[in-house]
Amino acid sequence: MAGYLLSKHLTWDIKSLKISQDITSPIQITCNYLNLLDLNEIDTKEILFRTNEAIKEPLPVERCQNLIEKYFFNENNKDISSFRFVEIFVNVLADQLVRFSSSLFFTVDNLRLMVKETTNIRKLILKTLIDGSKDFATRSIKTKEAQLESTNAEDENARLGTIVQWDDSNHLIVFFNSQTPDTISSLYRDRTKVHENVKTLLKSQVIGDRTKWELDDYNSMSTNALLVNLEYLARRSTEKLNIPEYALSGDNLIKMALILLRARANIPVIVCGEAGCGKTSLIAYLALMVEVQFQSLNLHAGIDEKTIMMFMDDSLEKAEKGEIWLFFDEINTCNYIGLLADLISHRMLNGKLIHPNIRLFSACNPYRLRTKAQSEAGLTNRVKKFEERSNLVYQVKPLPDQILDYVWDYGILKPKDEYRYIQIMVEKELKNLAHPVFAELLFASQNFIRKVEEPYSVSLRDVKRAIKLVIFFYKSLHNRPVNKYGHVYPPPGNPTILIRSYVLALSLCYHSRLYEQDLRRQYRYEMGRILHNHKAYVEENMFAKIIREEQEDYIKRMQCPPNTAYNEALLENVLVTIVCILTKIPLFLIGAPGSSKSLAIRLISSNLRGTDSYDKYFRKLPQIYLIPHQGSSSSTSDGIIKVFDKANRFQETTSTQFPVISVVLLDEVGLAETSPYNPLKVLHSLLEPSYPATGPTVSVIGISNWRLDNSKSSRALLPWLYKQIPIEQLIASNLDDSDARHLMVIGKSDSIVNLLTYQLRMRDLDPVVILGSQFPDDRDDYYYSVLKRIMMCVEAADH
Ligand SMILES: Nc1ncnc2c1ncn2[C@@H]1O[C@H](COP(=O)(O)OP(=O)(O)OP(=O)(O)O)[C@@H](O)[C@H]1O
Ligand SMILES: [Mg+2]
Repeated sequence: MAGYLLSKHLTWDIKSLKISQDITSPIQITCNYLNLLDLNEIDTKEILFRTNEAIKEPLPVERCQNLIEKYFFNENNKDISSFRFVEIFVNVLADQLVRFSSSLFFTVDNLRLMVKETTNIRKLILKTLIDGSKDFATRSIKTKEAQLESTNAEDENARLGTIVQWDDSNHLIVFFNSQTPDTISSLYRDRTKVHENVKTLLKSQVIGDRTKWELDDYNSMSTNALLVNLEYLARRSTEKLNIPEYALSGDNLIKMALILLRARANIPVIVCGEAGCGKTSLIAYLALMVEVQFQSLNLHAGIDEKTIMMFMDDSLEKAEKGEIWLFFDEINTCNYIGLLADLISHRMLNGKLIHPNIRLFSACNPYRLRTKAQSEAGLTNRVKKFEERSNLVYQVKPLPDQILDYVWDYGILKPKDEYRYIQIMVEKELKNLAHPVFAELLFASQNFIRKVEEPYSVSLRDVKRAIKLVIFFYKSLHNRPVNKYGHVYPPPGNPTILIRSYVLALSLCYHSRLYEQDLRRQYRYEMGRILHNHKAYVEENMFAKIIREEQEDYIKRMQCPPNTAYNEALLENVLVTIVCILTKIPLFLIGAPGSSKSLAIRLISSNLRGTDSYDKYFRKLPQIYLIPHQGSSSSTSDGIIKVFDKANRFQETTSTQFPVISVVLLDEVGLAETSPYNPLKVLHSLLEPSYPATGPTVSVIGISNWRLDNSKSSRALLPWLYKQIPIEQLIASNLDDSDARHLMVIGKSDSIVNLLTYQLRMRDLDPVVILGSQFPDDRDDYYYSVLKRIMMCVEAADH
């Protein structure tokens, strides 16, 4: 609507800004300090709040308005479109100022005593705090613009490059510590950009010899040192905490500090960023660190109002006991986003204000349109009606205006930060299997995929999976029994088992998702080069050989029906599927019909039969139990939850003597994505339960003819099944084969019947076409039960 108003009607009037006359209100605290600064009295005059000696008289409304205008609006005037930005500025600043006023260290008298050289320390602090809060408040503005552009823009160019990266400033923050409330910490991304004033400020805190002091460099600091810093910032107690593994780097330390600043000022935190950049885990980890009560609700399209209200009722009760953080994850996937937006921006529920102990957090993926490059890479959604939705990189709704002001955009990790995360994760998780070469290989692989796909196509999730796979392969290669031919594998000597494990992990995570042979070759070449630099001589061909040997070892152990063609697609599918099932890494097999997806799964389920298996190695592996679910455009979240429940119940029957793994098999999962109920959003939390859990309780395989939205893809391994055998060729080769007995062609349209009839007629055969009915019952297992019945009939027949 604003678009219809003349711009002169949209100008700002500071006179509409309401000013509380309560001396302890954030606006009064802020303005009292701004007043001192304005009068140049800050270094000589003390000001106190919330104590007996607190000042009594509030500043007059007009004075406050003028101060805010002068110190907040002056340069940002044209960007500020909402009083919410003033609110963010004032609240964040006031929270720091209260700490400032009660810090014994920064009193006028103490500073005079301790710091002889400079006497304007208090002015420096105030100015830095003002700048920090201003940066904070105006940062969201850019995000807002980005979304507006993405929702409004019609021409292709305007849609591109609208993500605002979070690292476009040095993020200098001066922060009053929690553990030692008298002192400040300063955080920044680049220490060369830190202003002299801040250095003076930090130096003033040093007791003893100040000449040797220098600024910390968070980029090269060890994780332990970073942890100590974080504890200063975030914790109140000093007792030892028992918290799960987390890769702490300078980057997430700053992010946490920025979040804490908001939380302290009771401003909602909404982080927006690409899949897997670490939003959910960062907030959950920070909550553990701050030792507050933490409740998280994973939203998806299936969540109804009742669930949200139950969650809130429970939280309100807990809020009576103390501070509580409420985390709404994936907020823009839910149908009640209006309700949540009200809760977040006005802190209102059912017309009542919520408890002040509640702090609100949420995370989401950006609302953004897919660029041309990606849809042209064959990732098309062929259901016409839903074309528009598949244009979105993430299937989410745009965020409502009133919460957009709070959004803070993480974008994607900067390469330097990502490399650091990778190094830390490799070291922490691989322990004695870690080697710097693997971190380097991973970093190069991430970049390789980004070059051929999109910058947001890979994330820390891929790194995590690769690490998990190294551990798996290492163990599995170590005790592999000989196969039925007595063949010893892997051969002793070079490449070592560790290098083989690295190569195989990379091959599943990265190599197999490349859709062209040539790209694969380039990838192997690049990895070979890095390995070579570290004196591991695995050149391009060797890389391919390691993969091939592993694939063959599995297939040779299997009993396959006669006439199974051991083509590359099948070998690849079998390996990736078995490994994903055993490691419970979710897998989405994407490929056109006829790329041996179902065959691979059938082979695995008939061969991995636990102790009943034919092969010695398979006997040591758990038995596999498939629980299929047929996706369709009318799938619902509930239906999907039920399949997982069933799988979980079966999984509970596992024991050391008879281990089992349930596998949820989501067939045609792509169709479910087109369902108006958006049921697949529920998959996010099923595939990846909340931090610190690292994976689902059961294995999940999705089969789809096209790639799903990025948040789902990010949670699974994505081999690209590039080999597609044309249906005519399949029919022809079957008819040519004198040993062939049955040919089953499954399809949805009449054209398959016509094709088959035509080919048979060409060979002077006389086909009979029987048109059967649909089986309306048993909707869930429809295709499987029908298929099974047909197979039984065929097997029973002797001709
Ligand atoms: N600092 C870290 N240390 C260790 N692991 C991490 C770290 N950050 C992220 N991860 C891992 O990376 C994966 C993705 O992180 P996370 O779930 O936080 O992403 P996200 O930003 O919430 O993504 P999405 O938008 O898809 O929900 C998780 O498996 C998590 O454990
Ligand atoms: Mg998340």
